[in-house]
Amino acid sequence: MADASLTRPAGAAADWTIPQGWDRYSAEDHATWDTLFERQAKLLPGRVAPEFIAGLDVLRLSKPGIPDFDELSDRLMKATGWQVVAVPGLVPDDVFFDHLANRRFVSGNFIRRPEQLDYLQEPDVFHDVFGHVPLLAHPVFADYMQAYGQGGQRAAGLGAIQRLSRLYWYTVEFGLIRDGDGMKLYGAGIVSSSAESIFALEDPSPNRIGFDLARVMRTEYRIDDFQQNYFVIDSFDDLLDRTLNTDFGPLYAELAGQPDIPVGALLPDDHVFTRGTQAHARANHAA
Ligand code: PHE
Ligand code: FE
Repeated sequence: MADASLTRPAGAAADWTIPQGWDRYSAEDHATWDTLFERQAKLLPGRVAPEFIAGLDVLRLSKPGIPDFDELSDRLMKATGWQVVAVPGLVPDDVFFDHLANRRFVSGNFIRRPEQLDYLQEPDVFHDVFGHVPLLAHPVFADYMQAYGQGGQRAAGLGAIQRLSRLYWYTVEFGLIRDGDGMKLYGAGIVSSSAESIFALEDPSPNRIGFDLARVMRTEYRIDDFQQNYFVIDSFDDLLDRTLNTDFGPLYAELAGQPDIPVGALLPDDHVFTRGTQAHARANHAA
């Protein structure tokens, strides 16, 4: 993920990468990975998009525990031409976009402490690798991520990074996808969280709304709790088609005059799959 207000730590290269330092992980670090992996591997079948399950195979490497990025990158390179590179944590937007545009996914190299199994503010290697890498092994999603990086470089010049970030948030991080009459998970922020993997699909609280590009770009999001809205795409092909083949320039200009949409709000034009009760948000956040 990206953040605008950061200084590069000593020891990081000009592109903010650092060595992963696989040999420096402790037995406890690897055990944390294994615990989280097993928990999600049990929870996700039947809930997650089949493309994600297929991609999980790239994470099964020769050594147990946290994946070694060199070996992981060899695997991923063969599948879709992507690599995984280590960074200290959040990186500036331009650095993030440049890596994505060149099919390099940036991952934090640290792993959460055992007492943080369920909750973590900053993305660690479990979120970044378990959450994001399986879909990078899928050709269409792999192309979407590269196009997003290129779109970011363009959005930066148009003062529209916030618009584009919302697209990332509601697809790459918290997206749902249709599956016959039902839906499944694919967003990395959901699939790397045991509690949100259930909440996003089964809880009556959140709205589940058909994906609409302009609507998503206008919608605020919360970073401190489960989402109050999830947006549902029809398929990865459809997502790529609606984004790659749309010129965002005129859209950014059009949206500049329109108000933001608060989290949890529904609009008359929304294609509503589930009208949420918002009970979770009401219980946890003052209105
Ligand atoms: N088509 C977008 C633009 O004109 C780029 C983009 C593609 C952004 C795919 C996100 C995902 O800027
Ligand atoms: Fe992420």
